[in-house]
Parts: sequence; C-alpha cells; structure tokens
Amino acid sequence: MKKYSLLLATALLIFSACSKKETPSPVVVTPPVVVVDTMLYKMMPFPVGAAVNISLMKNNVRYSGIVTKEYNSVTAENAMKFGALHPSQNTYNWADADYLVNYAQLGNKRIHGHTLIWYTSLPTWVTNFVGDSAAWENLMKTHIQTVVTHFKGKVASWDVVNEHFEDTGIPRNSVWRQKLGNDYVARCFQYAHEADPSALLFYNDYGHEYSAAKRTAILNMITDFKARGIPIHGTGMQFHMTVNTSDANITAAITGAASTGLKVHISELDIRLNPSAAQNIAYTSFLGDQQALRYKYVVKTYNTLPVSQKFGITTWNVTDADSWIPGWQGAPDWPLPFDANYLRKPAYKAMIEGGK
Ligand code: G3I
Repeated sequence: MKKYSLLLATALLIFSACSKKETPSPVVVTPPVVVVDTMLYKMMPFPVGAAVNISLMKNNVRYSGIVTKEYNSVTAENAMKFGALHPSQNTYNWADADYLVNYAQLGNKRIHGHTLIWYTSLPTWVTNFVGDSAAWENLMKTHIQTVVTHFKGKVASWDVVNEHFEDTGIPRNSVWRQKLGNDYVARCFQYAHEADPSALLFYNDYGHEYSAAKRTAILNMITDFKARGIPIHGTGMQFHMTVNTSDANITAAITGAASTGLKVHISELDIRLNPSAAQNIAYTSFLGDQQALRYKYVVKTYNTLPVSQKFGITTWNVTDADSWIPGWQGAPDWPLPFDANYLRKPAYKAMIEGGK
C-alpha cells in the first residue's frame, strides 16, 4: 500500500510538472511619447505679450514662431511710433503697423498701440516745425486722431503719452511741453478718446521701481486726470529693470500703480544681468537663475492685483539676440526669457511659476 502511495505521489508530481503551463514573459507596452509642450499665455492668468520687431516677424520664422506660440498680446517695438508712421507732414506709412495688426487679428492676439506722443523718435519735419501754439496743437491733434482712427476697432489700447516725467518727478522739457504747456498730456488723452471712445488709454513711463519721486509725480497726475474727468484707463510701467532690483521696490511700484484703481500694464519688461556694463562678462546658469527669481517675483506680485486691473505683462522684445539693451548699454546682456538660440531660459519657467 505504502509502495502504491509513493508511486501515485511521484506520478502526480511528474504530471503536475509536465502540465505546468509556460508563464508567458510579460509584454512590455511602451506608452506613446506625448510631448505636452507649454504655451506661455495658456499658463498665465492674464494676457502676456511681447514687443516685436516687424522685420524679424516677416523674415525669421523662429522668431515669429515664438511670438505665435507663446504670446496672446503684441506691441510694435517701433512701428507705431511717430517717426515710423508719419515720416513727413502729409505722408503716413502704415505698412509695417498694418502687417502686425493683420497678424494679430488672424491669430486672435491683442495688439497694444505704442506710442502716440513721445519726446523722442520724432521725424525731422516735427523737430524742425515752425508754427505758433495753435499750429503745434493742430499738428499733435492731427497725428493722434489720424493714427487712432486708422486703427479704430483693431488696436484696442494705446500708450497715449510716453515718458512725460524726468526721474526727479519734474515734467520733461520736451518739444511738446515747450510749445504747448504742461497740460498737453491731458489734451492728448482727450483727442485719442474723441477718435476712438472705446480704446483703453494708458500713460506709460519707466522708473516706477527706482524713483519714488517720479512714481509720485505720475500717480498725482493720474489722480488729477481722474478728478477732471480726463479719459485715462491705465498706467503702463515699463520695468526695464536690473537683476539687483529689490523686492521692496518692485512691490512699491506695483502697489502704487494699482492704487490708482486703473488698469496696470507692465509694458516693457526686461531684466538686465550686466548693469555695470562690464565688457568681459559671460552668461552663466547662476546669473540665469538670479534673473529667474526676479521674473518670478514680478509676475507673482503683479498677479495679486484684482483681475480687472491686470491688463497684462509685456516683455520688451522676444530673445536676448533682439533686445535693445546690449546696443543701448554698449555691453553684452541677456535680459529676456528666451536666449539667442530661441530657447527658453529659467526666466520662462519662472514666469509660469509666478503666475500660479
Ligand atoms: O529704422 C531705422 C533704420 O532705417 C536705420 O538704418 C537705423 C540706423 O541706426 O535706425 C533705425 O531706427 C532705429 C529703430 O530703433 C529701429 O531699429 C533707431 O535708430 C533706434 O533709435 C530705435 O531704437 C528704439 C528706441 O526705442 C527709440 O525709438 C529701440 O529699438 C526700442 O527698443 C526703444 O524702445 C523704447 C520704448 O519705445 C519706450 N521705452 C523705452 C524703450 C527702450 O528705449
């Protein structure tokens, strides 16, 4: 009996060993690689724009590609300035500005107009103009109303007057002020409003973040305009700043502008890494990270404003290769969120983090 049991157990063991199915080796399924790329404007809780160079928009697909993909607002870096649009008294040159307006309309992007009246970038026919104050008033009014009317319904907002104040807070002794007195600024807003009552009208300037005197002068002018019923809807802070600009100064500028109750546009943001204009300096990842911290702080602080006041943030051009800064300071710099190879820098991600 014992012998039979042993045989049976052995047979069962052999049977079970033979009948054991081969375990199939696991099939490794590799998920398809889906690259979910970011688009800056889709990640931001307010409009985000860039000032653009029309020649690069037309001729450089990497440049225009970034603008198309990353931004939902554009400003002409130069194409809507007095000298560009109105090169002689009876000649208007709309071609470049119209190109940008058409591009923006086709791509559902907002276009911000920059700038109707500024003390510089004027054509020689204006700087050489001879006439009494009525003739100067007519010149200024005609320019404003012709330009605003041309773009009516297409350009929804304007920097009406740019840089009226010195850093000390006194009005700049511009040709406009010399010929027309200090209150020309208010009349520019009235003329623009007459031409397009639905356009949002901004006063644009730099230095809010480093000159309390200038900031106060700007805020006082806006308070005065509001009291007098002058049509002003927003304040543009250029924010051409340096990597050393402090948190406190950035906060003071943003909260000051917001205290007007008007819309706030950070209108020309760039952050210099070489403020001492050193010649033998190279971009390093340390510098890029320092810059990213500033970009993040600007966006984060701005994002605390009420939704109705957040007109948006515009950087002044797109990549480090195209920025006005190196030419202006006569030294290398890397002030923008894209590098000269059209690649995103740490500042790009920092903007997105600041907007969360
Ligand atoms: O278009 C002419 C070209 O025909 C000529 O051959 C060439 C020779 O220098 O000059 C070209 O014009 C230049 C223009 O940019 C377009 O490239 C001007 O010289 C040059 O002065 C002008 O600089 C612009 C500057 O404003 C003055 O208008 C900068 O690109 C632009 O970034 C800068 O932007 C200003 C904002 O409007 C206001 N806030 C400050 C900001 C920086 O200065």
